[in-house]
This record gives sequence, structure tokens and C-alpha cells, in this order.
Amino acid sequence: MSLKEQVDITKLPKHIGIIMDGNGRWAKRRGKIRIFGHENGVRAVREAAEGSAELGVDYLTLYAFSSENWRRPQKEIQALMNLLVRTVKREMKTLHDNDIRLNTIGDIGKLGKDASNSLQKAMEETHDHKRMVLTLALNYSGRWDIAMAARQIADKARSGEINPDDVNADTIEHFISTSGMPDPELLIRTSGEHRLSNFLLWQLAYSELYFCNTLWPDFNRENLYQALIDYQSRERRFGQISEQLNNK
Ligand code: IPE
Ligand code: IPE
Ligand code: MG
Repeated sequence: MSLKEQVDITKLPKHIGIIMDGNGRWAKRRGKIRIFGHENGVRAVREAAEGSAELGVDYLTLYAFSSENWRRPQKEIQALMNLLVRTVKREMKTLHDNDIRLNTIGDIGKLGKDASNSLQKAMEETHDHKRMVLTLALNYSGRWDIAMAARQIADKARSGEINPDDVNADTIEHFISTSGMPDPELLIRTSGEHRLSNFLLWQLAYSELYFCNTLWPDFNRENLYQALIDYQSRERRFGQISEQLNNK
């Protein structure tokens, strides 16, 4: 049985998050500069997006540039921004062919005019696509996300629209950048690193975490199926005990 056939499509996560990591090391192993790895990571993005959409996943969220990534050498940042603009333009056909809507989270305004304009345009052009929402986390960090939600709630409290006594987890849910999406049931991180690096801190509270050693440019549909098969073998208890789940 192929890996794809082993995935139970009745038990798919609605939302998958991926920390795409390992581009630099992939390039270094080939004696190339880091940006060569980023360029080759685009194919893996296509594999993950098409593979998820084909199976019936509703939301795929990819960590593409963290708030902390501004600390990288200026040359690499510039090359990443150029690659982003080129890729968004070049992959419009992939989005249309697969009926995928593009979305972003993060402080996009700070990415520069070219990047924010091309993202805006792509989001408008794919707005009516229905099969899957592909969210790129750009200039994103989980703490920024929570802080921005807190700021909006504080604003509403000041203007009297919200009673501070009523603020609870649902209020945060309403103002967090992924509002309206289910939390990711599955988080994948490639390249053998075992950390969250400030990705979706609020939303990952109960996610199943899957780490693999594959470097991002090598990631393909088979790796995705492998992660899903592993996810489907787990018992998600949400604080209950096994017997309670099995009695249902
Ligand atoms: C992930 O690959 C891509 C981004 C963070 C933009 P890295 O660039 O972090 O690759 P490694 O971790 O150095 O190998
Ligand atoms: C996390 O990867 C950010 C993205 C994948 C965009 P990094 O490679 O930047 O993370 P750290 O710095 O090693 O934790
Ligand atoms: Mg890295």
C-alpha cells in the first residue's frame, strides 16, 4: 500500500502548520550560498500546498519569515524578499489551478512595498478560491500576535465596547491573526530542530508536534503523508483519559 493510501482521509487535520526549516544547511551541503537553498525551497512549498489541497486539508499555514529573521545578514534578507515577490507572481497559476486562496499573517506592512503589494494583489485575485486557505506567516511571531490581540482588546475596553471582566480565551481568539480558522491539529517542523521559534504560540496549545530530519528543500508529498500517518496514530486526549474517549 502506498503512503498516500495509508492516510485516512476521514481523519485529516483541518489545519496543518509547517515550520519550513533547513534551507541554509541544504545549500551548504552542496557548497552553495544560503539563498540557493531558499530558491529550492519553493518546490517544497508547492508539494506541501498541492499535497494538502488534494487530500482535503482546509488550512495550511507556512512559517516563511519570522520577526527574528530580520537579524540575518542584510544580503540574505534582501534575497528572501526578492524571492518572495518573484514566487508569488510565478505561482499564481498553482493557486488558480488548485483553487487555493492566499492569506497572510504577520506585520506585512514592514516587508517593503514590492512584497506587500504583490501579496495584496495575489490575495485579491485568489479571494474566491474555495478548496484550501494557504496562509504565509511573514514578519510573524507568536508573541507579536498575542500582543496585538491584547492591544486591540485594551482599545475596545477603553472605548467601552468590551467590559474587562468579560475578557477570556474566546476574546483572544476573536482578535488573534488566525481568527476564524481552527487551531492547527498538526504542526510539522523539518530539519531536525525541536523548537517552535515563536510560531503560533497561542494556536499550538494542543497541536500534535511532528519533527522530521528532512531539510525543507527535500520535503515532498511523501513526507507530508508520513507526518499525517504519524498524526493519525496518536490519541488526542485533551486532558481526559483514554477510557473516556473509547467509551464515546
Ligand atoms: C528556513 O531555512 C527558511 C527561513 C527561515 C527563511 P533556514 O534559512 O533557517 O535554514 P537553516 O536552518 O539555516 O539550515
Ligand atoms: C524559523 O526558522 C522561522 C522560519 C521557518 C521562517 P529559523 O531557522 O529562523 O529558526 P531558529 O532561529 O533556528 O530558531
Ligand atoms: Mg533555520
